[in-house]
Amino acid sequence: MRATVLSTLAAACSVVVGAAARAIPSPFFSILLEHPYIPPFGDARRSPCPALNSMANHGFLPRDGKNLDLATLVKAQHDVFNFSVELATSIATAGLMLCGSNGTLNLNDLDAHNVIEHDASLTRADAATGDDHTIVPWIVEEVLSYSSDGEVMTLDDFARARVAREAHLPDARLNGTSYVVAASTESVFSHHAFLDESGRGARVEDLRTWYLEERLPYDWAPPAHELGLEEVTKAAADFAKLVDTYR
Ligand SMILES: *[C@@H]1O[C@H](CO)[C@@H](O)[C@H](O)[C@H]1NC(C)=O
Ligand SMILES: *[C@@H]1O[C@H](CO)[C@@H](O)[C@H](O)[C@H]1NC(C)=O
Ligand SMILES: *[C@@H]1O[C@H](CO)[C@@H](O)[C@H](O)[C@H]1NC(C)=O
Repeated sequence: MRATVLSTLAAACSVVVGAAARAIPSPFFSILLEHPYIPPFGDARRSPCPALNSMANHGFLPRDGKNLDLATLVKAQHDVFNFSVELATSIATAGLMLCGSNGTLNLNDLDAHNVIEHDASLTRADAATGDDHTIVPWIVEEVLSYSSDGEVMTLDDFARARVAREAHLPDARLNGTSYVVAASTESVFSHHAFLDESGRGARVEDLRTWYLEERLPYDWAPPAHELGLEEVTKAAADFAKLVDTYR
């Protein structure tokens, strides 16, 4: 554990010294030190979702990913990604009702295909390949290649990436209202969580770290804006329309 904390510190220092880095370590950095990144081991469970997995990898959710209840899921989403309690509750309730049992869920319960997990993910292959669970680096790189400037992913970039990811599907699109909502919401969350200082888009480097390692970058801080349920619902609907303009 000590080694992990020290290497976290060392890496953070190099980030802070690096020319392209954010100038000041965020106040969240001291919280991250108490929540070091430890990839899953042993019988730990993980989901197809980078947000949940990264919270478990940092111990904001139980590191074994098992028996998560409503209160645990809500607190973590609020503390880490600055989701409003209402938004976090609605997401957690959906997960528990659709994929959990007896009011708790194990993260791998969310692998169930076409319940919440859907085809054309930004990080994983379709269930039809036999594995909708493992991160696929080339898929992540394909998605990030849609960044227009190589620095940030704007919502426009995310929209074009979604079209590309859905191109192989029978209708060249996700077919099912709930998946379209889930897929749109994921892009909105990614954009919100890693928005750069200019507000133009989510930092590509941060997204790469988050999608590939399911780790929170050392110089990252929670969004300074609390994301609410109504705001996300509207943003996801707008995003779905934007995606349609690129088909
Ligand atoms: C749910 O709880 C009931 C009653 O306590 C128990 O009989 C059942 O085995 C539990 N189911 C699961 C999947 O844990
Ligand atoms: C979705 O799939 C259903 C059943 O397979 C089909 O009837 C419907 O036309 C599809 N919808 C779209 C928008 O392609
Ligand atoms: C979440 O956003 C609110 C403003 O909407 C801000 O006051 C608060 O500090 C943010 N939380 C975190 C953990 O940054």
